[in-house]
Order: sequence, then structure tokens, then C-alpha cells
Amino acid sequence: AVADRIADLLARMTVAEKVGQMLQLDARADLEEQVLHQHVGSILHASPQRLVRAHELVAQTRLRIPLLVGEDCIHGHSFFSGATIFPTQLGMAASWDADLLERVARATAEEVSATGIHWTFSPVLCIARDLRWGRIDETFGEDPFLIGELASAMVRGYQGSGFDDETAILATAKHFAGYSETQGGRDASEADLSPRKLRSWFLPPFERVAREGCRTFMLGYQSIDGVPITINDWLLNDVLRGEWGYRGTLITDWDNVGRMVWEQRVQPDLAHAAAAAVKAGNDMVMTTPGFFQGALDAIEQGLLTESDLDRAVTRILLLKFEFGLFENPRHPDRARIEGSVGSAVHAELNLEAARRSLVLLRNDGTLPLLSETQTPPRRVAVLGPLADDAQTQLGDWAGSSGQADWIPEGQPREMITTVLDGLRTQVPDSWQVGYARGADILTLEPDPEGAYFPDGQPRPPVVHPSPVDEALIEDAVDLARCSDVAIVVVGDRIELVGEGRSTATLELMGAQIALLDAVAATGTPFVVVLLASKPLVLPPSVDAAAAVLWAASPGMQGGRAIADLLLGRIEPTGRLPISFARHAGQQPTYYNQIRGQHGDRYADLTQSPAFAFGEGMGYTTVEYSDAEVDPDGEMIRARVTVANTGSRPAREVVQAYVRDVVTSVSWADKELKAFRIVDLAPGEVRRVEVDIAVADCTIVDAAGRRVVEPGEFELLIGPSSRDAVLLTASFAVAEAGRAES
Ligand code: IFM
Repeated sequence: AVADRIADLLARMTVAEKVGQMLQLDARADLEEQVLHQHVGSILHASPQRLVRAHELVAQTRLRIPLLVGEDCIHGHSFFSGATIFPTQLGMAASWDADLLERVARATAEEVSATGIHWTFSPVLCIARDLRWGRIDETFGEDPFLIGELASAMVRGYQGSGFDDETAILATAKHFAGYSETQGGRDASEADLSPRKLRSWFLPPFERVAREGCRTFMLGYQSIDGVPITINDWLLNDVLRGEWGYRGTLITDWDNVGRMVWEQRVQPDLAHAAAAAVKAGNDMVMTTPGFFQGALDAIEQGLLTESDLDRAVTRILLLKFEFGLFENPRHPDRARIEGSVGSAVHAELNLEAARRSLVLLRNDGTLPLLSETQTPPRRVAVLGPLADDAQTQLGDWAGSSGQADWIPEGQPREMITTVLDGLRTQVPDSWQVGYARGADILTLEPDPEGAYFPDGQPRPPVVHPSPVDEALIEDAVDLARCSDVAIVVVGDRIELVGEGRSTATLELMGAQIALLDAVAATGTPFVVVLLASKPLVLPPSVDAAAAVLWAASPGMQGGRAIADLLLGRIEPTGRLPISFARHAGQQPTYYNQIRGQHGDRYADLTQSPAFAFGEGMGYTTVEYSDAEVDPDGEMIRARVTVANTGSRPAREVVQAYVRDVVTSVSWADKELKAFRIVDLAPGEVRRVEVDIAVADCTIVDAAGRRVVEPGEFELLIGPSSRDAVLLTASFAVAEAGRAES
């Protein structure tokens, strides 16, 4: 019946209405023009008021085809004041917990759907590669297997049990594909990727969510080997729609069609660009208003046929029918907004997510501050420019800065607990908490190359690192000297994070290093809390710190979660989903690198990362022993004994990596293939089992085929990707693809 309804609509639509149906435009612009004259099929960035207006306008149109409303709700409902902002995707990835991510996505869907938005542009499946890239915080980190696990959980959470449920929203797998393989970390630069390399690392998470029913895919911005992703026939048609059988909807990124004309310059005009994009299989074109006239011109010039349009429009109408929009256009629902947006239940879940996102990287026993075995401090100095910076703590896509500065009122300050707030409210009554900012990070200055680009677009301001302010440092030092412990909160700022905001450096910016040096010189034990959207390079003075905690961008409840962890009210459980570099020049640092040759090293740097993928400490000690594998045909069962040898509870992430000992092509030395989260009471010993499918022990051979190559394999099992801590057991795979001892 849906096919008949689509056929009926197509028969009645004019060419202009079909072209418009393919357009998604920015609702902050002229809505009358968009809906009444360009017949848009979708809008994004609509405030509730604009949304209501857009629906009123649709009611005046000839066919009254409902609008699809999209938004970037990446870690919570980022475009609604008072909504819940969770930790960033990278932060939540540190939990390694698919169930948690699914619950966060479900809660987000409840809030988003209540406000009349149908479609979130999340999750991000890009692999974190060069740490200088500005969008590292939006990823799940550096491992394709972990990305696949967590991304599919988020898709399940967003899309819920089915579109009959009014709390379900459409998920988007983005950015398809290879967008994160940058030049020097610069956003949207050409990706130096071969089809084989794409298949090896970048495509597997996308394939997984495509097969599991993620309803929409969004393209990246970049070109691969000279071909803009927007018109990459091999990726869009052969791989996505052909091999994977994807039947969903494909949307471009922001103005991809226009950019082929004025930035990438591979199309002479919008008519050619529109024709090329439609023919390559794009269904919806994001924010290229000129696509409307361009596509009409393309039809006129014979570059495009109406049946080309019909193919794309059919997919968009199918999405709208399957989502039930013709029956229920899902307008904002005041009662549901009041019941769900920013609710206490979601705040509780947010606190859980924030707690699980924290990764303790080092601890000499100073933490937890409240402990039975040591004299607790009474005077706590809270220092640093990020100790009370609510906005930076929320991260990008969070409603009042960065990409989303069109919510003028921002997120209410009272919903956000900073580290300073958290410590002030959580320490025992008899303690004193003092605060000194100590340092600034940056100011924004007009670009010395001029206020406008040659095409008339305004140039964004440039970041200017703040100079050392001796008076600020002095205040911090005075406070540290008369305190029992100092908590120094440093990291990056919101202006250094996001699309178009890659950084050439990874060092702590501005006066932060001087502040750390000065605090270290006081001799007061100090704990470094890194509110850093992505891994940064830490200065030598951090070696003197009693403890180091990475908190990424931990969302609204971040300060409370950090205080709970520092005080010892919770156990640290996060594990790094991404490695930390020792130097900005040490790129890349991801663990699953291709085996190199003897010269594949730096002469002036230790080769290992500062902190490796999978690392993270608890407040207890856990020992691994007796690893064995039990190959049984198509499955390999790994077993290891894990003992909590300390006096506090452990939540251990048991990680299983596979090494293919000899490969026909150079390949990663080890790859994560399975993991298990295990809770252990103090003193508890458990034999943990982890299953790995032989079919997952693949490489991509020289011909680009994903295959299991018979031969020797090693299973490496332990608490992180660092070789030194992994236990090894061997197995073999026979010609028939069956594993044996
Ligand atoms: O969804 C985003 C995308 O990730 C980057 N460009 C803009 C889109 C819409 O805001």
C-alpha cells in the first residue's frame, strides 16, 4: 500500500515539487521562500517557534507533504534550552558500555521527539586518527570494533522498538566514509585513502549499522583520491547500496553540492553539480539553496531526467511513510516536553554516564581523597581556568556556543554542575574548598588576513593563546600552599573543538603550563583533572602530579561525577577509547597500526603513546593469569583468570585482541575482537570467558577481499592494548576456516 501511495504522489508532483522534496534547508532562513516556493522536504536547525511556523506553511501547500525535521542531537538534545546534555560521544565511549549508550540514546530520543524533531544526525562512526582533528570529540575513538559496538547500540536507542512508538527518532550514520583521515588533522581536507584501506578500517562499523537497520546515512565533506565523496559512485552505489543492500536514505553534508562548484571546483556550475549528486545516488541535499534552480536547469539541459529525481524522491517519501509522518506529523508536544526534557530521571542517567566516562590515568594513592587508610585532607584548593567553565564542560553541540549559538539563552547554568560546584557541595561539611582560576587559555582576535574571505564570507576569528598573568598564578600558588591538596582543572576550550576547528598543536594552551609548573613547585600534592575534549599532550610538570584524571567533556553532571570520583564515593571505571600522544608530532598514535619496518620510529621520542588505548585504573588492583584458548571450529573461546587483589570493588574491562602472526599483506599487529565488562568484589577471583568468531579474524587482502587467512594466530588478553600487560595464547586456523589448538 505504501508503494501505491508513493506512486500516487509521484504522479501528482510537479518537477519543482520533486526537486524541493530533495532539499533540506536551514530553518533560520526565509521559511516562506523555502516551503512555499522551493517546496522543501526537510528543515534543520529549527527553534520550536520556527518549527510551528514551518508546519503552518506546509498546510498551505498543494500536496501538504509533511516535513522531516532534522537536528544535530549528538550527545543529548543540543538545540533546546533546558534539555539534557550528556558527555560527548568520546567521553561516553570510555565506558565501553553498549547498554549505557543505548539507554542514553533512548533518553535523548524521548527528549528530541517531544520537541517535534524527527531525525538526529548521530552517531558519528568516523575513526579517530590524527588527534589534531577538531572533531575527535564526536567519535567513539580509534578502534573499529568498539565503534561498531557502541554505534549500533546508539542506533537501537534512537530508533527504539519501531516507528509506531512516538519516542522513536531516525538515526544517522555519519560521516560516510573516510572523513576523519585528514591531512595534518585539518577538517575536510582530502583523504589519502585507497578502497582497500577504506575496507580495512573505515567501512566495517558503517557496514554493521547499515545491515542492522540504521535508517539514514550522511556523507562526509572530503574527497578521496580526487573524487568528492558526494559523487563517489563506488562507495555510494557499489558498496553501500550494492554489497550491503542498504535501502535507507542518503543525505549530503552541509552544502556539499555547492562546494563542488566553489570550493572543490570539480563542477562548472550548480546544474552540473546537482545532476552529478543526484546521479551518484544522493537522496537529500543539505543546505544548498541553489540546488533547487540547479536541478531544474539540469533537467532543462538534459543532464538529469525526471526518473533520476523519482528514485531519490521515492526514498524520501518511503522514509516519511515508514516513519508515519503522513498519519502523525509529530509536532512539538507540550505535555511530553514537560515530562521528559531535562527530567530528573534523565539527570540521574546523565550522572551515571558522566561517572562512567571518567578515566583515571595515574594515581599514587592520593586518590580517593576520602579513604580509610590515609588522613583525609581538610583544605582543598580548586585551581585552573576550567574548574568553573560550564560551557566548555558541556562540549561542542551543546546549545549555546560552538555550532549551536542560535539558542540565545543557552543551557541554564543551574542545570550544570562544574567541578568547583561539585567539590563545594560534595566534600564533608568540615572541609574548606578554595578557588583560584590561576590562568587563562585563549582570546579570540580578528583574523590578521582580513575580516572576509575573497567570496565575501566572514572569516572566523583566530585563537590567540593567553599570556601568563603573574597575579593570577600568584593567587593560585598562595591557595595551593595553604591547602592539603590541589585539584588543577585544565584542558581545552570550546573554541578549539568542532567542525573547522582543528588545532596545529596539542599542548595545553595559554598560561596553563605555567600554572601547572607553579603548582608543582609548591610541593602540595596535586591532582590534574583534564577537561580536554580530546587527548592532549601533557607537560613534564604533570609527571609530578599525584593523580591524573581525563574527563573529556563530561556534560551537565560532569562536576558532580568528578567530585564523586575524587572523593571515592564511586570507583573509577573508564578505559581509554583512544590513545594519548607524547608530542603533537607523534601522529598517528592509534594502537592498531600496520606493522612497520626497523626505521618506523622517531629518534627523539619514546615510541609508545603516553597513555594507550584501553588503559584506565580503578581504586583497586586487578591481576590477570592463566590465559587459554579453546578453539572449537567456528568459535574461539578465550578464558582468563581475573582477580581483584585490592580492597575496593572493581569494574574491569577484559579486552581480547587477535594477532594474525603472518599475513599476506602488511596488517595491524593486533586488533580488538571482543571485550567483557566484569564486576569483582574485593578479593573476588573469576574465570572470565570471551568468545571470538573465527569469521572475525580477518584481514583485507591485496585484492581488497576481507578474508580469514589460514595459519597461526595469537590471542592477547588483558587490561589494555599495551603489549606489556597482555597474556598470550595461540591457536591455528585451518584451510577450512576452522580454528584448532
Ligand atoms: O550534521 C552536521 C555534520 O556533522 C557537519 N556539518 C553540518 C551538519 C548539520 O549541522
